[in-house]
Amino acid sequence: MKHLISISDLTREEIEEILDLADELKAERYKGIVTEHLRNKSLAMIFELPSTRTRVSFEVAMSDLGGHALYLGWNDLQLGRGEPIKDTARVLSRYVHAVMIRARDHSTIEEFAKYSTVPVINGLSNLEHPCQILADLMTIREYKGTLSKIKLVWVGDGNNVCNSMILASSLIGMKMVYSTPPGYEPDRRILELAEKLNGDIEYVRDPDEAVKGADVIYTDVWISMGQEEEREKRLKVFSEYQVNMNLLNLANEDAIVLHCLPAHRGEEITDEVIESSNSVIYEQSENRLHAQKALLLKLIGGE
Ligand code: CP
Ligand code: NVA
Repeated sequence: MKHLISISDLTREEIEEILDLADELKAERYKGIVTEHLRNKSLAMIFELPSTRTRVSFEVAMSDLGGHALYLGWNDLQLGRGEPIKDTARVLSRYVHAVMIRARDHSTIEEFAKYSTVPVINGLSNLEHPCQILADLMTIREYKGTLSKIKLVWVGDGNNVCNSMILASSLIGMKMVYSTPPGYEPDRRILELAEKLNGDIEYVRDPDEAVKGADVIYTDVWISMGQEEEREKRLKVFSEYQVNMNLLNLANEDAIVLHCLPAHRGEEITDEVIESSNSVIYEQSENRLHAQKALLLKLIGGE
């Protein structure tokens, strides 16, 4: 039994296995091949925060594989009335085969996993978004054919998605540059772990400098869920970090643009970049489905 709470819970080999399986599952879905490897398996999905992609891709992943997913809004559960996480974890473990949780605080997911006897999957926390990163790596491989000789440049906020990408890059051996305003760098604990993993991670404050030679440009919202009160301040702080055509033109000509979505056009990224031929954002979004199917098969498809 294994959890996916941080992307660093996986080894490089495990990540590669998941990506290989995800490629196979994608090809099979396109051919209309149906497998029921998760028949009679249930996934509980607890959401403390809203979601479009994570919710739908996990739900469809389970149903495509012959299993079942339950959407559980935090406030619809007794959790919302104060039932302890540890009791919820113990009880749900007796009903379902895995639990996916999206929570404000990473510690909520860690606490849940401590008491769960079934695999727990982080569906986003303030610290990490590992499921997103599996889809991102799958997308980079699809378009670039490799992960190891790639320079990925993160532009904008050093947030949860950035944190997980730093760890994944360190595990996989991909060069990653992050370009964030001072004070909005990735989490210190993440950078320390990346260093222990011998990651090739570099900070370049100026986004114009950072994107030179980039194969992949990745950005995400300036205001993550839960930071709405900082909106005005953040819009000012991040104004030089927009991924627009001027910035894209400084990267390699065949650079691809990633965004985990939802996007705020005109803030962290322009409409023109999203609609440009460099953008592979919707393929990236689709790959959530295939990558999570592979993850679910690895975690609960064994018996
Ligand atoms: N990228 C992502 O996780 O999207 P949702 O918030 O819609 O799930
Ligand atoms: N950084 C964003 C990602 C949304 C999928 C957030 O946490 O809101």
